[in-house]
Amino acid sequence: FRVEWDAVTAEKNGYEHFMRKEIHEQPQALQETMAGRIDLERGVVVLPEVKIGREELAAIRRIQLVACGTAFHAGMVGKYIFEKLLRIPAEVDLASEYRYRQAIIGPEVLTIVISQSGETADTLAALRLSKTHGSKVLGITNVIGSSVAREADEVILTQAGPEIAVASTKAYTTQLLSLYLLGIYFAQVLGTLDDGLRQQLLAEMYLLPRLLEKTLATETKIKEFAEDFQAKESIFFIGRGLDYPSSMEGALKLKEISYINAQAYAAGELKHGTLALIEEGVPVFALATQPDLYEKMLSNIKEVKAREATVVALVNAGDYETEKSVDYALYIPKTHPFFTPILSVVPLQLFAYHVAKVRGCDVDKPRNLAKSVTVE
Ligand code: G6P
Repeated sequence: FRVEWDAVTAEKNGYEHFMRKEIHEQPQALQETMAGRIDLERGVVVLPEVKIGREELAAIRRIQLVACGTAFHAGMVGKYIFEKLLRIPAEVDLASEYRYRQAIIGPEVLTIVISQSGETADTLAALRLSKTHGSKVLGITNVIGSSVAREADEVILTQAGPEIAVASTKAYTTQLLSLYLLGIYFAQVLGTLDDGLRQQLLAEMYLLPRLLEKTLATETKIKEFAEDFQAKESIFFIGRGLDYPSSMEGALKLKEISYINAQAYAAGELKHGTLALIEEGVPVFALATQPDLYEKMLSNIKEVKAREATVVALVNAGDYETEKSVDYALYIPKTHPFFTPILSVVPLQLFAYHVAKVRGCDVDKPRNLAKSVTVE
């Protein structure tokens, strides 16, 4: 009797694809990224690797986030986080645009580059350009010893562990968590956040690995309806506020691995063009997890439903209103609305995965794409 195995099968640990394994590793990846960085007793974030003092931080006039692909979507969430917590203007740019657009860079700009691999050519070029102009650069990367880790002035390591599938999943959620930690840490240094609110946010943040674990349960339902989408030509993703970057990430995941045309729109933009494409049976994946924008989203959902779109809605647990107006409803567990991007991306990852799988695609190695783009 011989057990047949090879290194790759062993590494997949019983999962059919690395992507699904990595989706399911997210609770642990969050846990490890958070470990030692939250002191619940004192109600503070502990980030000894970030050596930016109060004075230096107070002199910052703009926070500039730069990244590519999935990491860019993390940067979009980062913009919300920093502006909300610090009231400092924050911008986010694609590295391939930023490096060529003669951006205004100087010592008053804090640059944050986000890169899973730490080797993406455009991101590295943006890092170097920023340093040349005297901007301090903070890198968020998953790879110790990578170029970003070596060249940035300060580094936060996400502890996602090796990510093998080309489509990024656990690296994304740990990038988000790192941005939340950094935002709260800066707010703590600058005193822009009320102590009570900071403690409340940290207490909620501490629960995220457990809540993400629960979010994985949406897979059962997604698996059941994935087939209904396998023959669709295009799918739209809509959301507002913090749901908008998640919509973009959901569309990217689907495009990358299933080759279905997917587009994300800020739901308020529907009327400015996209609505013309909505007709019977066109799938719309609508995210409505933000309480302050809920009514607006619901009316967008009704708008596309009125044109007979097939709607999947992603909403918070306890929202039994939306399901009355849609074809499929998915729920994320309750958390502070500020943290929903970490949970809402999970059903989007699973949706892309299962649709790609029923279409018979090579999920881990999509055509024409590479895990790390080290040339321009
Ligand atoms: C490639 C990968 C994406 C990734 C992007 C940026 O396109 O396929 O998954 O988001 O590069 O990579 P980085 O390593 O800089 O985060």
